[in-house]
Amino acid sequence: MHLDQIALMSLSVPYNATQVKPTVLVVDDEAGPRDALKVILRPFFNIRLAENAETALSILNQEPIDLITLDQKLPDRHGIDLLQEIKHTHSDIEIIIITGHGSLKAAMEGLRYGAAGYLLKPFNVTELISLTSQTIKKKHRLDLIRTILHDPSTPLWGSEQDCAKAWGYLKTAYFLIGNNDHESAHGGSSPHDLLPLLADLLEAKDRQLLNHSSRVSFYATLLANRLNLTGAKQRSLALGAFLHDIGKIGLPLVHASDEAPLTADDDPHLKEHAELGARMILPLGLPAEVGQIISYHHEHWDGTGYPHGLQGNGIPLLARIVSLAQMFDHLTAEAPGHNPLLIDQALQRISLLANTCFDPQLTELFAQIVSECKTSLPAMANASMPSTAH
Ligand SMILES: [Fe+2]
Repeated sequence: MHLDQIALMSLSVPYNATQVKPTVLVVDDEAGPRDALKVILRPFFNIRLAENAETALSILNQEPIDLITLDQKLPDRHGIDLLQEIKHTHSDIEIIIITGHGSLKAAMEGLRYGAAGYLLKPFNVTELISLTSQTIKKKHRLDLIRTILHDPSTPLWGSEQDCAKAWGYLKTAYFLIGNNDHESAHGGSSPHDLLPLLADLLEAKDRQLLNHSSRVSFYATLLANRLNLTGAKQRSLALGAFLHDIGKIGLPLVHASDEAPLTADDDPHLKEHAELGARMILPLGLPAEVGQIISYHHEHWDGTGYPHGLQGNGIPLLARIVSLAQMFDHLTAEAPGHNPLLIDQALQRISLLANTCFDPQLTELFAQIVSECKTSLPAMANASMPSTAH
């Protein structure tokens, strides 16, 4: 891949430079809000309208849609059901939930299932325009990353040299689409500068992967605070936990949700993600501990884990922390096709695995910390992103 190819790719994603308006599908059964959305958004987008789920699905099958504004309550389907179906069949379409029923809980559920945001009716025009344009900008970035990741002519994550080139493409693409919000667009390479690109990369693979990564980083940080780690180690832990599954980006047949608790460990293809992830980030010059976390987050205390069968204190401390944090999240997170455990049930399950999978002392401390703040834990975890600021 050459710079001019990346430039062409960035232009082939139909927003900004070519002045092709993105298309928004407004799904609402009430004529009032539907017409209001049409009038407000028409200067910026091509608009399609649907008054029920069936019409919306039929439009999606006929033409490319970039963004959907989705009413929570439709005559023929619940909005969240429709959201899940669309995210399953058209994962690259962004969806903004619009609800007139004051149901913040349902809107939050929408976010967990992949909505980009939500607005409450009656909506504020400035907020509506700002959220739709930010979401379209993000879709532009994700589409470009997906185009680069799926380009069959370029093996991105083979050797370390391939990985270095891949990061070069991705950073160049960010620059070319004028992602001026972030330092990473201008070639910054500190962890802090790279974070927006890394988050977009995880999201381009799968929104669930980004959500899981953010929560794991949060849970790992809870433990770090009690272990009196140095500031540098805490920052490495937050970033390493955030990137622990980055290797899944390089495995086209693997999805974020493939790593169900313990059971998927038998899949040899999935197992590659630990070493692949560590190789992928080598050219970024991140602290060595970040690579160790990615490499060893599936090692088990009793030596039965992968990729190296390390044992006990032979597994780096930060990797032992992330091992616990990622299992806790797999057990408790609401995700498609997975029934989450209650926090107490998850802690019980994890405690049974102390001495086999997990460091027993860390397991006890983790259970204690989580029990202390369990009422506010899911909300805090869902709202978190790692901080690598110095
Ligand atoms: Fe993993």
